[in-house]
Amino acid sequence: MCLALCVSGVQAVQKNGEVWYDTVGHAVNAHGGGVLAHGGKYYLYGEHKVYGRAGNKAHVGVHIYSSDDLERWTDEGIALKVEDKPGHDIEDGCVLERPKILFCDKTGKFVMFFHLELKGQGYSAARVGIAVADKATGPYRFLRSLRPNAGQWPMNVPEGERVEETKAKYMTAGKKAKLWGAHFDGGQMSRDMTLFKDDDGKAWHIFSSEDNSTLHIAELTDDYLDYTGRWWRAAELDWTEAAAVCKKDGWYFLIGSGCTGWKPNTARCYRAKSITGPWERLGNPCKGVNPANGLGPDLTWGGQSNYILKKDDGEYVAMFDIWKPDNQIDSRLVWLPIDFNADGTISIEWK
Ligand code: GAL
Repeated sequence: MCLALCVSGVQAVQKNGEVWYDTVGHAVNAHGGGVLAHGGKYYLYGEHKVYGRAGNKAHVGVHIYSSDDLERWTDEGIALKVEDKPGHDIEDGCVLERPKILFCDKTGKFVMFFHLELKGQGYSAARVGIAVADKATGPYRFLRSLRPNAGQWPMNVPEGERVEETKAKYMTAGKKAKLWGAHFDGGQMSRDMTLFKDDDGKAWHIFSSEDNSTLHIAELTDDYLDYTGRWWRAAELDWTEAAAVCKKDGWYFLIGSGCTGWKPNTARCYRAKSITGPWERLGNPCKGVNPANGLGPDLTWGGQSNYILKKDDGEYVAMFDIWKPDNQIDSRLVWLPIDFNADGTISIEWK
């Protein structure tokens, strides 16, 4: 961009949609991740991609970088490594996407959640993986993977709707029925995801569920390593992926994409007075055109939302990925400041 993140007097080194370089001149390799602000430093982390279509699977792990200014990134190596062991949940060749890291004040640990698809099973496993570390840069120790909230009904559906619908019924209803009941016993499907830490220290896992048709907002335990069992459905049947959340002046904002795989679509945004909803639909917050590909707000400049960082100076930065599914190592980052408008909406303008 000239990130609007420039330290005064210092020329911006990273430009939106171009290759970003670390402090020793290697291309930054961290996609679908986010940035953790901790102890006066920033930590950029994301999926380490390899060349070609092989980059659509995880062969290395989660890469992490550190910076004082969000511009110059020092390579801190692979924070969470995939495993060689056949049958391991995060075996080389699994799908490990959208890692997110929070610092837990109560335990002093760094907790990572990510979308996990088991090796050889396409996107059918729909699980979340959890890992933990003593330092922001890792190493992260893989703890387990699961489908969240088995045996728990959503908080925001009435008693009468707490029924176990079958997958078959869901399919014949033209994807219009409610699917959570079918996954009551085994746990809810969990694909694209983010984590959000609120002002009160409580952490939330927000993920695309019910075959990506509906978001689930799940409360985590005080150590961020498990679920309390309290969860809410949101953006029902909107088919929202790539959720990213922030809070400003008592309002929660959620940005997401539609559901078209690696291909860009129109972004959408919601706001709510409580993280658990109800969420009001605000439409597409994006503006302007990416001159490199000629794509505008209807296709999110060629990108897909990823994370919202609240900087130490109070500015909010929305982060996007421009995916290159034929060569994911060449996927690009786009970081733009969020404008909070007087009418309670938000805008994100290409720069
Ligand atoms: C996207 C999703 C990515 C990845 C991709 C696979 O919609 O946001 O994280 O899962 O689909 O096709």
